[in-house]
Amino acid sequence: MPAVPSKKLYIKTYGCQMNVYDSARMADVLAPLGYASTEDAAEADFVILNTCHIREKASEKVYSELGRLRRLKDKGAAEGRRVIFGVAGCVAQAEGAEMVRRAPMVDLVFGPQTYHRLPELVARLDGGARGLVDTDFPADSKFDRLPEESAPDGANRGPAAFLSVQEGCDKFCSFCVVPYTRGAEFSRPVADIVAEAQRMAAGGTREITLLGQNVNAYHGAAPDGATWGLGRLLRRLAEIEGLARLRYTTSHPRDMDAELIAAHRDEPKLMPYLHLPVQAGSDRVLQAMNRKHTAEDYRRLVGALRDARPDLALSGDFIVGFPGERERDFADTLRLVTDVGYAQAYSFKYSPRPGTPAAGVAEQVPEEAKSERLAALQQLLGEQQLAFNRAKVGSRMSVLLDRRGKRAGQLLGRSPWMQSVPVAAPARLLGTLAEVEIVEAHANSLIGRVVTTGDEGHTGDLSESDTEAA
Ligand code: SAH
Ligand code: SF4
Ligand code: F3S
Repeated sequence: MPAVPSKKLYIKTYGCQMNVYDSARMADVLAPLGYASTEDAAEADFVILNTCHIREKASEKVYSELGRLRRLKDKGAAEGRRVIFGVAGCVAQAEGAEMVRRAPMVDLVFGPQTYHRLPELVARLDGGARGLVDTDFPADSKFDRLPEESAPDGANRGPAAFLSVQEGCDKFCSFCVVPYTRGAEFSRPVADIVAEAQRMAAGGTREITLLGQNVNAYHGAAPDGATWGLGRLLRRLAEIEGLARLRYTTSHPRDMDAELIAAHRDEPKLMPYLHLPVQAGSDRVLQAMNRKHTAEDYRRLVGALRDARPDLALSGDFIVGFPGERERDFADTLRLVTDVGYAQAYSFKYSPRPGTPAAGVAEQVPEEAKSERLAALQQLLGEQQLAFNRAKVGSRMSVLLDRRGKRAGQLLGRSPWMQSVPVAAPARLLGTLAEVEIVEAHANSLIGRVVTTGDEGHTGDLSESDTEAA
């Protein structure tokens, strides 16, 4: 059904990479209805906020954002245009009908598992309906209902892109909303994932990050009748020609099985970087968090991974000030961080999420102690990150040049270990892998110099004259 894009779609995405993936797929679902994506909210006919519920006051922030965007609706109305407002994602899932009650300007509330139904929902809006809410967890998976990507040359999602393979979570860490907003664990069948990855490779994607809330719990039905884990799936995807790099996120320490560890040893396309959240270093706290692993389990696991892949860099998530956390528990966290050594990490103060078990615990940690602990932890993590980056100065590495830089003649790439690497390079190298020498290290980036443009097999320094304005 060829449709001429006549309307504009603006999606603002919050939260994790799963939301980034979902937003891209919402655009695919809406393309046949004539919606073309825009970066400019002011010209949009359809505005979607794809929300995240993980941080404090997440819902309140969505309501204020809606308040700010209201003028777009009024402006559209003044021009005789109806601007549709949709709220998607995890706040939508959690708030449901409350959202249209509190913000009547919202036309549509839909959850992470129902956006494949957007065409029906939009048709109902076009027919005059208002305030529609669809936050089911339908029995039919959205993945079976989503159209193939809209780009004619396959999934044209850029040189480095996400692919959702798993959703939901059955772990129920006592602080976390995700099991409630994303629902139960679900794995897509192998054949669907392979087909999507092949389309992405055909469209020029060189690096795929497999996504799941609990991605290493993946257990998908395979064409051979067996159930494959993530290690097996990665090995299959590595066979796809054109794909140069694979990653996956986010993993739970409990689901890191032998096959997946072996994939880190055997599969060169699997990048030597792993986001493996531990949250805390004290067994008391880990137990209260319902994490289902000890600090020692985690240390042993990291040891096994580094035996398999000695240059593996780790990233993590940490929560300080979990209810009942004492100074000596926090000292255990610092010790674990010192022992493991992180290349990068996220750390948060614990904040109660209504409806989660930890929120009701009496023994909450005072705000001041949380702030002190967070500062101490971030200091240590920051030092580790800078030390990791500095150790790369003078070395050469393969960098995927996946986006344009801010300056003319500059491209930005990703190192194997996820650092951003700005280099001077002509725009024609966008989407290719280059051999880069690191000349300078910062906290959040490695400054590089292109040595060889590996992909095309030709070598030579890129002189200034070869560097066209991007
Ligand atoms: N599925 C992933 C990430 C979940 S949310 C995982 O299991 O690791 C991302 C991070 O947000 C978590 O790892 C945790 O560190 C943090 N987080 C989640 N709920 C939180 C809360 N109530 N307070 C503070 N941090 C939280
Ligand atoms: Fe949340 Fe824990 Fe599941 Fe991660 S594993 S999504 S932190 S419940
Ligand atoms: Fe946020 Fe939902 Fe992702 S709560 S972190 S957008 S799963």
